[in-house]
Amino acid sequence: MPNKIILKKKIPNFYKKITIPGDKSISIRWVLISSLATGVSKAKNLLMSEDVLASIQAIRKLGIKAEVKNNVCKIYGKGITGYKYRKNLIINSQNSGTLGRLITGILIDTPFPIKIIGDKSLSKRDFKRITKPLGKFGASFQLKNNYNLPLTIKGSKKLRPIKFFENKGSAQCKSSVILGGIKVDGKTVIKARKSRNHTELLFKYLKLPIRVKKNKNFDLIEINKVNKISPINYNIPSDISSAAFFIALTVLTKKSRLIVKNVNVNPTRTGIITILRKMGVKIFLINKKIYKGETIADISVKSPKKLRSINCPSKLNSEAIDEFLIIFLIAAKAKGVSFFKNLGELNKKESPRLKWGSKILKMMGIKVIATRNSIKIFGNPNLKIQKKIVIQKYLKDHRVFMSSVIAGLSFGGEWHIHNKEAIKTSFPSFLKIINILKKQ
Ligand code: S3P
Repeated sequence: MPNKIILKKKIPNFYKKITIPGDKSISIRWVLISSLATGVSKAKNLLMSEDVLASIQAIRKLGIKAEVKNNVCKIYGKGITGYKYRKNLIINSQNSGTLGRLITGILIDTPFPIKIIGDKSLSKRDFKRITKPLGKFGASFQLKNNYNLPLTIKGSKKLRPIKFFENKGSAQCKSSVILGGIKVDGKTVIKARKSRNHTELLFKYLKLPIRVKKNKNFDLIEINKVNKISPINYNIPSDISSAAFFIALTVLTKKSRLIVKNVNVNPTRTGIITILRKMGVKIFLINKKIYKGETIADISVKSPKKLRSINCPSKLNSEAIDEFLIIFLIAAKAKGVSFFKNLGELNKKESPRLKWGSKILKMMGIKVIATRNSIKIFGNPNLKIQKKIVIQKYLKDHRVFMSSVIAGLSFGGEWHIHNKEAIKTSFPSFLKIINILKKQ
């Protein structure tokens, strides 16, 4: 099968209702936390993508049994101290920052050194951001270039609680320290810039000793040692970060309408909805309900007649962090100049996404002024692409691939997008759903 996709036509207008796979952040958290539970946890609709399968592989390496059958995953947890630590263990986090960072937090009591490795993209990313606070617990680390993977962790028997100021708005750093904190006697305190709070919500649902005080820009989180976690039966809701591609396609395709069923709309994840509303899009949440502390709804969106530009408030950055590539595409079609700032974190993802976002827009013929942490996009509501655009060598970033497909289907031109296998990371059925939308 060729590993590149060629698009030559815009998608015809559509009017559809779709269901998409489970949320990646929640799926990985469910796997890791269930591996520490006492007893059998069961999940339905667990995302079956490489990031989640790598998480299952990781806990298996640590001696935890896991079964996947007919869309149901079972994990046979052996308690907080149930991992089978042994010499020369290597955990492969593949492409997943969430797995690599969260599991390292869990491993702070390993008596033997454990090596954490990843693929080319993950090996370029900042792991110092977690080893610095985790080191304060008493674990010791060796990192390549004192910054990235491979890293080796050696735990300690004499762990002590820490105070940590998480100032990047990174849920992975926050969660890594929370998961370390559960193994330590005493109160660990985290002052964390706002970021997705799935770990905290799951802890609260499980009645684990966590307290969260919300301030305007920060959360104050206190976590105490956990003795036992009950098994977790979970029906994983759909991922808004995957839904976002089809929401964007609807916004960019005339006379279209889409409903995406049963999506996790946790307010720490819905920045894209707030941003689209500010740009003039009619997007609604229907059938809203609470499930195990998470908010779930169907998302209904209609293509707008006109799109307004946006001066995007930085406070939405964390809530929309995985959606900016497609938000930039929408800004390319808006009337006026859009501005996105304080977005340096975007260059620390699976690929430098602020750079790639700007590169793709320039290839499309959109005027862009980009700095290290901001981007100004001069929108063109009449944009029609007539040339050939080749997307290649982008560290196989799944979101670069999927955003490029959305651009090709929305703006026309001839797109040659390499590394189709990138979708396996987060959304293996992405192209199947595109085909559903294409069928009249
Ligand atoms: C995630 C947190 C975010 C996000 C990533 C998933 C998580 O990363 O970009 O896709 O599951 O905690 P950061 O913590 O680096 O912001």
